[in-house]
Amino acid sequence: MTNNHQKVVLVGDGAVGSAYAFAMVHQGLAEEFAIVDLTKKRAEGDALDLEDATVFTAPKQIYAADYDTCKDADVVIICAGAAQKPGETRLQLVGKNLKIMHEIVQPIVASGFNGVFIVAANPVDILTYAVQKISGFPVNKVISSGTSLDSARLRVALANRFGVDPRDVNVNVMAEHGDSEFAAYSSATIGGLPLYELAEQEHISHDDLLKIEDDVRKKAYEIINRKGATYYGVSTCLMRITKAILRDENAVLPVGAYVDGEYGVKDLYLGTPAVINANGIAKVIEVPLDDRERAAMTKSAETLKKTATDGMT
Ligand code: LAC
Repeated sequence: MTNNHQKVVLVGDGAVGSAYAFAMVHQGLAEEFAIVDLTKKRAEGDALDLEDATVFTAPKQIYAADYDTCKDADVVIICAGAAQKPGETRLQLVGKNLKIMHEIVQPIVASGFNGVFIVAANPVDILTYAVQKISGFPVNKVISSGTSLDSARLRVALANRFGVDPRDVNVNVMAEHGDSEFAAYSSATIGGLPLYELAEQEHISHDDLLKIEDDVRKKAYEIINRKGATYYGVSTCLMRITKAILRDENAVLPVGAYVDGEYGVKDLYLGTPAVINANGIAKVIEVPLDDRERAAMTKSAETLKKTATDGMT
């Protein structure tokens, strides 16, 4: 696409995909937005509904399409796949969603697509690895939402605890987007002050911080138990990642990125900060970890590797 005309293709118009499409309309991102879904009628209905909002945001061609539309897309985002049911872990979705990835990625690649993949289906770290392998795309052009949502959740939780704006809490949740994730507290800052120092000043104990980390780890289950699914938080993270690509921002965001030696982990996708621009992942930012965090990273990587091996056999 030419610089001033950008195109995004959404594959999978379920709750997350539809919320993402709405976020993209509200942000005025991409002049062209195609929706691919097994139920074409749903994609057509969403396109017709979304275009009505463009009167208040920015002109955009929005339409339902088939995989061949990916040919000239800047970004293809994969939101298709089964979502967690109450009590179900993300890792338990691996078998059925790996099969769906195979069915989706091959026609996208066959279209001649040469842009950046964003993957949002769970277990997102393992499925992103699969998308990269199936597509044969360079690892920098296959990104996942990773722990962007978990990091957002932790920023909200810490902001509430410390009484500050969530946008001023700098902290990363890392590793699996799931039950083995951890908060990289040792590198966290609020207003440039190390979080641990501010916690001491505010009489917030290490156990309090570990409880907040655990609440964040479990937040998706709390939401799913109440409303059946999560979609506003994750779709906004996906919109933010898309914006960094379309605007060639070199933004540093917590995403799911391929690591091959960083954190002592090889050949895996996991949540870490990275520099994001028009070419996808420009650089993985290897955050310094303390002993607790390094052990959690190793354990999470082992969990992901084992599940990937079991899921792919
Ligand atoms: C969640 C889903 C997107 O954490 O995995 O809400």
